[in-house]
Amino acid sequence: MSGESDLNTAPQHSESSHSGAESVAEATGWDLFGIALADDPHSQWRKIREQTPVLDAGDGVFFITGWDLVDEVLRDPRHFAGSGVSASFGASNGLAFEAMRVWLMSLDGPEQTRARGLVRREFTPRQIEALRERIVLTTDRLVSAIETTPANTPLDLVEGLAFALPSEIIRSLFGLREDEWAEEIVSVIRGVDDSPGASIQMIEGLAQTFEGRIARGDIPDGLLADLRVPDEELGALSPLEVVANAVLLVTAAIDTTAGLIGNLAHCLLERPPLLDRVRRDPRLIPSLVEETLRFEPPALSCSRRAGQDLELAGVSIPAGSQLLLGLAAANRDPARYSDPDRFEPDRDFQGLLSFGGGRHFCLGAALARLEAQIVAERLFVDSAYDFEALEKPRWQKKNPTVRALDRLPVRARLRSN
Ligand code: HEM
Repeated sequence: MSGESDLNTAPQHSESSHSGAESVAEATGWDLFGIALADDPHSQWRKIREQTPVLDAGDGVFFITGWDLVDEVLRDPRHFAGSGVSASFGASNGLAFEAMRVWLMSLDGPEQTRARGLVRREFTPRQIEALRERIVLTTDRLVSAIETTPANTPLDLVEGLAFALPSEIIRSLFGLREDEWAEEIVSVIRGVDDSPGASIQMIEGLAQTFEGRIARGDIPDGLLADLRVPDEELGALSPLEVVANAVLLVTAAIDTTAGLIGNLAHCLLERPPLLDRVRRDPRLIPSLVEETLRFEPPALSCSRRAGQDLELAGVSIPAGSQLLLGLAAANRDPARYSDPDRFEPDRDFQGLLSFGGGRHFCLGAALARLEAQIVAERLFVDSAYDFEALEKPRWQKKNPTVRALDRLPVRARLRSN
């Protein structure tokens, strides 16, 4: 593997060139790229972990699958988060490259503390809770549309709900009108294809949109404006940082949350007895969301760069190596979660790695959880309809850091009792 691996990206973004992963396959016999996109990656990650929790994958890449080790690396400030993210997209110049170099996820040390302090102002628990009503109303509108679609017409829960809800919520947070959002943001995100360079084009497109708005002074009330507000102690984000973090928030918020909602619906529809239980006792919903996050986490991995020579589980790792942290694999480490391949909402979820950990812990975790909980309540408890999945799960095959269904066609039937 030369340079950065295409698996060396933040969960929400990745470039899809296969070259890096192929050399991993040659070096170890494990095709990490292929495994991440397999229908059942979990059984193969289990085999890797049983062989070694720290796999020397060749070319300076170490794939870590033990829960305690992933947790340790995430919390160890000696390792660098961002270095290489932009390069892993195949970018070396241009606005997208510049934006990825300065967005929150690429920063370390005091720079990250400062920028995170400024971005996180918009994601306090109180602000997220204040969004509840908006999320409830939007979910109700989307689910009602699904319910009132003519009988026997298949409906795609991913398009119509899992993607639509987080997209709509982040749109409203940015204060953009629906038509502007569809034209300037969704068309860019949905326009991404399989071709090399597609992700970078998306980031470039979003960055240009936000940069253009700032240049024109066409800034609606909302996140873009808020990101520009200075703080007495922390100072202000630079214009490039504002653009970069706006792009990060859009890209981080949609596909990941869509993955969570789709995976939750899939896990429940596959388990009718559990569905009955939730209907009888909706208090189970938060645990169902947590178990979905553990069992099928939307963000499969993230990366760090070793800040110094170290030894993990007896494996020597030179400074500068890429530590590819298998969040999903670690969530199924039997040393942490008993009977990990069983979907069990009654378990103790402490230590879940689905939103990362340490200094870069996901800023949108509470928002994603709230959206998923509200969807579960509206779709599976309050609805007068039953939903039946019409085909086997079709997992997306483009992005090796994301676990999400491409689509989830269902049929809605009025419940008889
Ligand atoms: C189920 C949904 C989500 C999942 C699974 C998820 C997962 C993650 C993970 C694993 C990280 C850590 C990356 C790393 O350490 O390298 C992260 C960071 C981040 N996430 Fe999320 N995310 C989700 C939803 C959201 C939402 C809704 C937002 C914003 C509205 C968001 C914003 C961010 C930001 C800004 C960071 C960077 C934080 C930092 O570097 O300090 N995420 N996310």
